[in-house]
Amino acid sequence: MQSDLIDGKLISQLIKDEVREQTAALRAQQNVIPGLAFMLVGEDPASQTYVASKERACEYCGFHSTTLRLPESTSEEEILGRIDTWNIDPDIHGILVQLPLPKHVNEDRVIEAISPRKDVDGFHPISVGKLVIGQECYLPCTPAGIQELMIRSGVETAGKHVVIVGRSNIVGKPIANILLQKAAGANAIVTVTHSAAKDISIYTRQADILIVATGRVNTVTADMVKDGVVVIDVGINRVNDESRPKGYRIVGDVDFEGVREKASMITPVPGGVGPMTIAMLMKNTYQAAVRSSAQR
Ligand code: GUN
Repeated sequence: MQSDLIDGKLISQLIKDEVREQTAALRAQQNVIPGLAFMLVGEDPASQTYVASKERACEYCGFHSTTLRLPESTSEEEILGRIDTWNIDPDIHGILVQLPLPKHVNEDRVIEAISPRKDVDGFHPISVGKLVIGQECYLPCTPAGIQELMIRSGVETAGKHVVIVGRSNIVGKPIANILLQKAAGANAIVTVTHSAAKDISIYTRQADILIVATGRVNTVTADMVKDGVVVIDVGINRVNDESRPKGYRIVGDVDFEGVREKASMITPVPGGVGPMTIAMLMKNTYQAAVRSSAQR
């Protein structure tokens, strides 16, 4: 059996089109334009690429966006001061500080400085706490994108055994909490396995739905999954490939060619989860603008 592909590129485009339409209506009816502020500190090439893609998506959706590019040597005080300014700026509805930050900056302190009302990344401890206890909040974009991909691809999660490989604060922990909720698009039986397991295949073989977010190539191979599994590959890894113009290609954390012979559905890399992250950021920012206009 060869699996069906879950087309994240197509689904993310549908979501951006929906947000674009809603944004035009919000502008026409309430004269509100969603505004998103980006902060990029230092020269990390991957971060620069991500922020550029997010800026393009803002333009597509009809948002106002502003990007503050700061040198690697920027002090924590300077960063916190800029966030304070954005926190009280009525034209800015969402604030996104691209991670990682330089080593001399305390990331936790920076994240906590962002007003939870503008925390469209869903990283603030208040957002995380609300997620865990099932209160409405901004969901972190990658896990929210995974849930949305499954809903729109007709993957039923209720009562299913979801196994998550990886326990990061950005993906593993939040997706576990999202899918655990007693709610539509969730209500799953959730197992989280990680680097401390002697043999992760004991867990991965039990999965009806397998979500892999380790940042390691070939974390999951065909012998580690059962027939018919749905596989969500969150990895974005560069591997050398001299046949490509750039000298590398992008692969996920799953051995795609092997696993697709056993899976019923699988996300490709690129074109799976990746584009969903940005689409959900647009959705969160639109929501933040709607909420702020309701408070005026
Ligand atoms: N770095 C890698 N992923 C993310 C993300 O989703 N948000 C932010 N702010 N930084 C990141």
